[in-house]
Amino acid sequence: MRGPRFTDKVAVVTGAASGIGAAAARALAAEGAKVALLDANEEALRAMAEEIQGSRAFTVDVASGASIKAAFDRVLKTFGTVHVLVNSAGVIGKSTLQNMTEAEWDRVLDINLKGTALCTQAVIAPMRAQGGGAVVNVSSMAGKRVSFAGATNYTASKTGVVGFTSHAAFELGAYKIRVNAVCPGPTITGMTSKRKPEQLAATAAKIPLGRWVMPEDVANAILFLASDEAAMCTGTALDVDGGILVSNGSNYEEYFASRT
Ligand SMILES: NC(=O)c1ccc[n+]([C@@H]2O[C@H](COP(=O)([O-])OP(=O)(O)OC[C@H]3O[C@@H](n4cnc5c(N)ncnc54)[C@H](O)[C@@H]3O)[C@@H](O)[C@H]2O)c1
Repeated sequence: MRGPRFTDKVAVVTGAASGIGAAAARALAAEGAKVALLDANEEALRAMAEEIQGSRAFTVDVASGASIKAAFDRVLKTFGTVHVLVNSAGVIGKSTLQNMTEAEWDRVLDINLKGTALCTQAVIAPMRAQGGGAVVNVSSMAGKRVSFAGATNYTASKTGVVGFTSHAAFELGAYKIRVNAVCPGPTITGMTSKRKPEQLAATAAKIPLGRWVMPEDVANAILFLASDEAAMCTGTALDVDGGILVSNGSNYEEYFASRT
């Protein structure tokens, strides 16, 4: 039986107040990590800090470099260092390109891509000082193909996260800082839960493994990449998508019904 993988490690999770970030924060804490919970949603963040023993909440707007600097200064003052960073804060864009405003484009790119880059930048010095660390970026299957629900700005941001992950892994390998990504498929979280049951079922029908991804499925992949079990993995983008990226886009049941 495997023991806890993060005993005495400090883990920072952005987007920790909801969905995939919240699941990752819970899972890291369950395996012994001291978790710094970062999010823009103060109320939900406070509830998470009450739920997770030994965690601390830090309000941040990851679209702002100044806000990120202030939050990470407070994290370092509180915990002394950072061993693991999970970049999960993110938003979705809905407008088609012909209707998209410059502000909508900037908001999604600033939060999803620039925020990931600047939060990673903020942990380089403490991780270098302690001899290494692990960063896991939450991209999306949209980073490899096209989003189900998001728009061009969302797909561009998530493709950017995959590219950023590769290049940061290359640069930071010299300091034994590993940088990896996960690419979730449609996942039941705050971002998706407003959909009607028939919409949820229509999406599930296109997923080879037959169901929506749960936040805990993604958290399991994040914990693997953040742990010493992935000691020689860097620059990867691990799909957690139930097989969507290897499917041909057809309704899965109909596809097999038409075969002999
Ligand atoms: N749900 C899906 O189907 C899905 C699929 C693939 C990838 N993702 C990615 O997973 C990540 C987490 O999304 P989720 O599905 O858990 O959604 P969610 O809405 O449940 O959680 C996102 C969290 O990010 C926080 N956040 C948003 N803007 C912020 C900002 N400027 N500063 C700080 N925090 C901010 C929100 O307050 C929220 O708590 C996102 O990057 C998303 O793009 C989600």
